[in-house]
Amino acid sequence: MTALSFPNDFLWGGAIAANQAEGGWNEGGKGLSLSDLTRGGLLHGKIDAAVDPAAYYPSHQAIDFYHRYPQDIALFAEMGFKCLRTSIAWSRIFPRGDEVEPNEAGLAFYEGLFDEMLKHGIQPVVTLSHYETPVHLIRTYGGWTNRKLIEFFERYVRVIFKRFGGKVGHFMGFNEINMASVIPLAAAAVEIPEGISETAKQTMIFQATHHMFVASALAAKACHELAPTAKFGCMLQMGGIYPATCKPEDVFATMQVRRRTLLYSDVLVRGAYPNYAWRLFDEAGIKLEIADGDLEIIKAHTADFFGFSYYSTTTFTADLPVMGHTGGIDGIDNPYLTKSDWGWAIDPKGLRYVCNELWDRYQKPLFIVENGLGAVDVVKEDGTIEDDYRIAYLDSHLREIAEAIADGCQMIGYTWWGPIDIVSAGTGEMKKRYGFIHVDRDNDGNGTLVRRRKKSFHHYKDVIASHGASILGS
Ligand code: BG6
Repeated sequence: MTALSFPNDFLWGGAIAANQAEGGWNEGGKGLSLSDLTRGGLLHGKIDAAVDPAAYYPSHQAIDFYHRYPQDIALFAEMGFKCLRTSIAWSRIFPRGDEVEPNEAGLAFYEGLFDEMLKHGIQPVVTLSHYETPVHLIRTYGGWTNRKLIEFFERYVRVIFKRFGGKVGHFMGFNEINMASVIPLAAAAVEIPEGISETAKQTMIFQATHHMFVASALAAKACHELAPTAKFGCMLQMGGIYPATCKPEDVFATMQVRRRTLLYSDVLVRGAYPNYAWRLFDEAGIKLEIADGDLEIIKAHTADFFGFSYYSTTTFTADLPVMGHTGGIDGIDNPYLTKSDWGWAIDPKGLRYVCNELWDRYQKPLFIVENGLGAVDVVKEDGTIEDDYRIAYLDSHLREIAEAIADGCQMIGYTWWGPIDIVSAGTGEMKKRYGFIHVDRDNDGNGTLVRRRKKSFHHYKDVIASHGASILGS
């Protein structure tokens, strides 16, 4: 039997995003980001026209990480974190997005945050854009459908690399960039007008995505110039996908839908649109505007590593529509898998499958920057929370990562999604909890915000301290 283990420099940690944790939505000169106009989560794809003073917006206070990060970082340090992934809210640095000079108060906030992490030996892992584009860029420019955003984004990331290049080891561009085709507003800052044709809609999405590809390549270039010790990665939602049967049509349809995801990493990692993309665009009636030099930029500046989220797998058949699907959300039930409280199939083996799929295709180091279980937790009378289901999810996925490592996949690290309870991106709920640390807050914003260690807190601490041996039995 092959002995299973994790590499010595494996980055154990957790991942959050600015808009789901920070709050402080209008403090320190921050501008309005799309999440600040979101009620009920990003999945329904709409934001309010303006802030309604009578309404409750989960991101406005979130879990108040903006003010409480020293105590939260101390808790992460207690678990032994080697890294923490978070995002920088673009609207803290450039409140509208199109200014020439950055907002110093926003930079100072992240400086304090990263220094606090480093003080505890926790490496910052940073996403530059995590579903939180400044609203001004959406309303004035049409989001990423407009080429101007490339220039604004490049200005923003250059400021970040200059200021934080020495403190951050791993940067990523756009969170789950492939979700542009499922949730275009969150992932690509595109508001799809009511009543437009599917062709017009897909054209908007892929035009926006093209601009994001160029922006991402320019960010990789800037990172390599200005932050030479840091690595620049892509970030995709990489839920797995299986054909429901061995019927050739189902198998082929599954490959086609998988390509709707791999298209994004083929561009960002290999540096070119894959040949199948041109047929896809052609048959969908999508005519992309590609400026002179764009393809050369994309070719020249590719990702150093592949960051991805993995929660689940989905099961596909030829009868399901392909347009708009990227896997992980749509599909049919897999009778061999159980589901989370929110209906996401639990599939640890799928994670090993995906790691091998990506390693075989790209041979780039893999970083699992999101994996976790959203569940309903019960706080007992004595204040304890026995989240054995979360521990089981964690252990089973870590074992499969160790298997993938033994298969030959090169892995940078693992950041559990939501090591502290945060606002759900998809639904806006607090009830959907991922944390090892409980936060006293409910769906309507009530609660003391007090933090409590769950049973899984102590468990993850042991896993990290033993370098995985406690769950591998080695
Ligand atoms: C990923 C996102 O899609 O899934 C996170 O990058 C999100 O922002 C996570 O929170 C879990 O989804 P949800 O809807 O349960 O918060």
